[in-house]
Amino acid sequence: MSYNLLKGKKGVIFGALNEHSIAWKVAERAVEEGATITLSNTPMAVRMGTVNNLAEKLHCEIIPADATSVEDLENVFKRSMEVLGGQIDFVLHSIGMSPNVRKRRTYDDLDYKMLDTTLDISAVSFHKMIQSAKKLNAIADGGSILALTYVAAQRTFFGYNDMADAKALLESIARSFGYIYGREHNVRINTISQSPTMTTAGSGVKGMDRLFDFANRMSPLGNADAADCADYCIVMFSDLTRKVTMQNLYHDGGFSNVGMSLRAMTTYEKGLEEFMDEDGNIIYG
Ligand SMILES: NC(=O)c1ccc[n+]([C@@H]2O[C@H](COP(=O)([O-])OP(=O)(O)OC[C@H]3O[C@@H](n4cnc5c(N)ncnc54)[C@H](O)[C@@H]3O)[C@@H](O)[C@H]2O)c1
Repeated sequence: MSYNLLKGKKGVIFGALNEHSIAWKVAERAVEEGATITLSNTPMAVRMGTVNNLAEKLHCEIIPADATSVEDLENVFKRSMEVLGGQIDFVLHSIGMSPNVRKRRTYDDLDYKMLDTTLDISAVSFHKMIQSAKKLNAIADGGSILALTYVAAQRTFFGYNDMADAKALLESIARSFGYIYGREHNVRINTISQSPTMTTAGSGVKGMDRLFDFANRMSPLGNADAADCADYCIVMFSDLTRKVTMQNLYHDGGFSNVGMSLRAMTTYEKGLEEFMDEDGNIIYG
């Protein structure tokens, strides 16, 4: 259902790889809400992924870019302004990748070159994106810039590895740049901290199936999926959130504020019973 929340707005969406991608759903919803957009992803992703199908469906142009290259990012914003006919109203950074996670390097055995790459692709690219756009005066006054993050930036999640550090930096960039861009041009910069979601990047996380299930059971509203996330992004791009900036916004069914759920406590106690004798003494474990 469309509410015309983005009628007449122009947007750039980074990170749609396939139909499971969060950015894919955001692109579809943005167009449904009346926006015109351009898409961007790495040249390799454009060749190997199915983003061309999305571009065809939404009648929009794909501008290939490696988000670690300032030159590529400048080109995305210049070309987007040409294609869309003016300044951009909203930008989505939906990009993440860790070679350490891919190569199964554990957090106490990180390869530092790979860590540099993780931080550059998953966090510094957000700074590069915003700085490039600002220098080109590519974002309209009152515009909205979003990046996607995960609660592992605040709390430790086994297997999330160096992506936790990348997300902490990403969220910090949103605050630091949000202050400057807000003061000068009323541009909002926020991060949305999303539930575990079954996507290509998501399934790279060690134990993703179990993490997904755990978060789903712990969250009073259950996990938010990619389509739910797209809805939230649309609201953040719209004029309804003009005074929201420099925030890390949890979109996780309540997970981040739950200490212990009744369900989890019951399951824990049942598990413990197996390790108790008849008098309730723990035998082992
Ligand atoms: N899936 C989850 O569980 C989850 C949870 C919270 C946050 N997030 C975040 O959501 C965002 C989108 O991920 P997703 O889950 O939709 O997975 P996805 O794999 O569909 O998207 C990740 C995208 O990053 C792109 N990318 C990688 N390296 C790049 C580079 N150098 N330049 C430009 N683009 C590059 C990939 O091509 C891909 O399109 C990421 O920031 C991810 O960390 C995901």
